[in-house]
Amino acid sequence: MPNGLKHLLAGYSQQVDAQLEQVVPEATGPAEALFGAMRYSVFNGGKRLRPALCFAAAEAIAGSNINTCKVAAALEMIHAYSLIHDDLPAMDDDDLRRGKPTCHIKFGEATAILAGDALQSLAFQQLTELSDMPSNKVVELVSMLSMYAGCGGMVTGQAIDLAATGHTLDIGQLKTMHGHKTGALIEASVLMGAITAGAATEQQLSALRDFARAIGLAFQIQDDILDVESSTEQLGKQQGSDVANGKSTYTSLLGLEQAREQATKLYQESLASLDIFAERAEPLRQLASFIVNRAY
Ligand code: IPE
Ligand code: IPE
Ligand code: MG
Ligand code: MG
Ligand code: MG
Repeated sequence: MPNGLKHLLAGYSQQVDAQLEQVVPEATGPAEALFGAMRYSVFNGGKRLRPALCFAAAEAIAGSNINTCKVAAALEMIHAYSLIHDDLPAMDDDDLRRGKPTCHIKFGEATAILAGDALQSLAFQQLTELSDMPSNKVVELVSMLSMYAGCGGMVTGQAIDLAATGHTLDIGQLKTMHGHKTGALIEASVLMGAITAGAATEQQLSALRDFARAIGLAFQIQDDILDVESSTEQLGKQQGSDVANGKSTYTSLLGLEQAREQATKLYQESLASLDIFAERAEPLRQLASFIVNRAY
């Protein structure tokens, strides 16, 4: 990984981790196991890509601030919850996440379900604690996260994924599934980050939406590719899980080579959307490159 990118990711991670540290409860008291499971799933070495996109989008507009950090924490909590539930026996039934036992393996299924539930509500609570932001803007952010995380996005994507398991989707259906299950939260990260910067214009938001849609799809294509060609050790999650579960993926539908071509094409499209921001979008460009070149 280039040094610049390493520093960029480390800086964003540090900021969001400090915020998460403040809001995720200590593992003590009568609900110790619940809080322990929440902390385990938030602080177990995620790439923090959604927070990074949130910060970088704010940079593209006018710079990040404390609200960017709070929104980044909210997004990461939604992401952590989605992974806990995604790994459950009723869903992908995976035992390994970020190189460690999945939440339900470590804490039991019931506690894992609750940890996901609690992280989701904590994410929304975090949005009610934004500093010095007009209430109509807060409502806009709450509305966006509700839509992108729920029926208009991630949860619907997960439902399509489950319904499609064991069936073959066509490429259009696969794109719809990926756009929801992964693309939506990535789009939320970019747009909500931009909104925290204060002064985003419609034209800027529209360019960022195009960027996020292209790179969000590329992100899930790369996830599908890595499931085929990486190793369990490098991924920190079970390699070959998609094939074992009969999932429709970009690689199962198009093969590795065409999946790679699609990811590259989307990467180029994503960069073209950033032209209007000139140097201000450099962090977003670096993250886009990481998304399609990452090995884990
Ligand atoms: C994995 O996301 C789940 C998908 C949406 C494909 P990441 O690859 O961002 O997972 P972490 O947070 O870095 O573990
Ligand atoms: C999960 O997609 C997307 C989520 C909403 C969590 P995957 O099932 O492909 O994610 P991994 O490969 O288990 O991380
Ligand atoms: Mg899944
Ligand atoms: Mg999975
Ligand atoms: Mg996957």
